[in-house]
Amino acid sequence: MDSPVNRTEPDETQAVPTEVPATTQAATRVAPGAASATSTPTERVARGFTKSAAKPAGMVIETAPDPPVNKMRRRIVWATVAGFLTTCFLMFLRFFLPRAIFEPSSVFRIGFPSDYGIGVDTKWQQQYRIWVDKTSDRVFVIYARCTHLGCTPDWRPSENKFKCPCHGSGYDSEGVNFEGPAPRPMDRAEVKLDAEGQIVVNTAKLYKAPKGERNEFNDDGAFLQL
Ligand code: FES
Repeated sequence: MDSPVNRTEPDETQAVPTEVPATTQAATRVAPGAASATSTPTERVARGFTKSAAKPAGMVIETAPDPPVNKMRRRIVWATVAGFLTTCFLMFLRFFLPRAIFEPSSVFRIGFPSDYGIGVDTKWQQQYRIWVDKTSDRVFVIYARCTHLGCTPDWRPSENKFKCPCHGSGYDSEGVNFEGPAPRPMDRAEVKLDAEGQIVVNTAKLYKAPKGERNEFNDDGAFLQL
């Protein structure tokens, strides 16, 4: 039996170490140089810390701000997405724009009849796909399109003829076919004189001379009388 002198009772005033939950340790752990337990909310916000929305009552969970690398990565991703969407939107708009507005006009001026010498002038071939042909009594404009399958023939001054590079059709200096598979002479565009006396060409109005049908090359508008 223990003597009353040797028996020791727990001292209620003595501190007893208790186990602290891990979540409480995380909340109370303070990084070196970071907010201390005595920091005010304003001081913690000034250091870049934020409060978590999901927290037990009475507990403040502070998270460190994103590192600069993460911010930069996020900006790059957003910029890429925005660029992709903008490109898609522009392609969508372009799809509905009519391409015809970029085509050259079919009506244009090519100067005065006196600007041209006798024979074939090819200076408008690239821009308007025409040749100006002048004889002793008239000026007319040949539309530079082979009547076989639509290629553009070459003018060969040394041979005084047009030659189609696709299948070999040949045309004389007035565009009349004489060899190869071309079924008819090359068409002629409408020509008129404006108030100043300049030649106005309209390639939307063509005159034809199909074999066995009426020849339109002598119609009004198919040539200019000199
Ligand atoms: S397209 Fe000119 S000969 Fe065939």
